[in-house]
Amino acid sequence: MSLYTREAIIQHFKNPQNYGQIKNPDIKIKHHNPLCGDEQEWFFVFNKSKEKEKWTVKDVKFTGSGCAISTASASILSEYIKGKTIADIQKIQTSDILNMMDLDNLSSNRIKCANLPLDTIKKAIKNI
Ligand code: FES
Repeated sequence: MSLYTREAIIQHFKNPQNYGQIKNPDIKIKHHNPLCGDEQEWFFVFNKSKEKEKWTVKDVKFTGSGCAISTASASILSEYIKGKTIADIQKIQTSDILNMMDLDNLSSNRIKCANLPLDTIKKAIKNI
């Protein structure tokens, strides 16, 4: 991991984008990392259309506790999915997050940290 990347992750951890709650969201969902027990709660508001795959994310926020990697991943992903369709979000893979964060050579435990937000988002859109 380069120093720049480490700095960027620390900045997202210290000042996460979209941290907070949304009153009356379309979906509110909690999910935790079974390895450490850290939990995030996510709130979504959608621009709706007839086909659910074409709904777009109008607003999204998250709260919860977590390590630097899970919080930075949540911050980065919450920015990334704004305006995206459900179909776009369904295509996001773990490797995409690791690329977005410029992380490689993470242990499987740390990959679970980076993946906590994506797992939560995927769980949320399954409930639509
Ligand atoms: Fe719990 Fe990373 S140590 S999410």
